[in-house]
Amino acid sequence: MAAPTSGSGRVLIVGATGFIGRFITEASIAEGRPTYILVRPRSSSSSKANTAETLEKKGAIVIHGLMNDRSLMEAILKEHEIEIVISAAGGADILDQLTLVEAIKSVGTVKRFLPSEFGHDVDRAEPVEPGLTMYKEKRKVRRLIEEHDLPYTYICCNSIASWPYYDNRHPAEVLPPLDQFQIYGDGNVKVHQLAKAPI
Ligand SMILES: NC(=O)c1ccc[n+]([C@@H]2O[C@H](COP(=O)([O-])OP(=O)(O)OC[C@H]3O[C@@H](n4cnc5c(N)ncnc54)[C@H](OP(=O)(O)O)[C@@H]3O)[C@@H](O)[C@H]2O)c1
Repeated sequence: MAAPTSGSGRVLIVGATGFIGRFITEASIAEGRPTYILVRPRSSSSSKANTAETLEKKGAIVIHGLMNDRSLMEAILKEHEIEIVISAAGGADILDQLTLVEAIKSVGTVKRFLPSEFGHDVDRAEPVEPGLTMYKEKRKVRRLIEEHDLPYTYICCNSIASWPYYDNRHPAEVLPPLDQFQIYGDGNVKVHQLAKAPI
């Protein structure tokens, strides 16, 4: 579809075909914002291509590429005069955002960046593995954003109840392991950790 010729607050959403990203994209379109979505080229052969197509039909403008391709990202941000960048990159690709941050810094025209957070406040929570690695990576992205003095928003929404059931079978159909179990950390780790409320 043709790109809108007017309107402010042009948004680029990275990860629009993911679990969280599709909701963000729909919300952005519903707000009437010109909404661009960056879709990985290889998505075209998967069911995610259908998601991209559905979002395109709803009004999103599809751009193919990788957020960890700096020159491409700089070109996209400039050409489409993107003002807001929202990343909903998945847990395995958090560090790809470092290149995106560098591109945002380099063009200097993005008014706000929302990195892929959408969970616990990673500076306040201290989980054990396998979660800790991703928390450390999210912290690394935060530190680079802050080092570059970019305007940012971190969305911390804690756990999303529907996520574990997103692409799994009904939990009652999956038996828990009966022969072994895993002790988290040294056995004293709290399952729920309440972050301190900001003063
Ligand atoms: N609080 C909670 O309970 C909860 C639950 C789930 C997720 N989250 C958080 O929400 C965020 C998003 O997670 P998710 O589960 O929605 O992710 P996801 O379903 O794995 O989707 C990730 C998206 O990022 C895209 N992507 C990854 N690397 C890319 C790259 N280099 N260039 C361009 N696009 C790239 C993927 O593209 P492809 O389509 O090509 O794969 C996909 O669209 C994460 O920070 C995660 O920790 C929180």
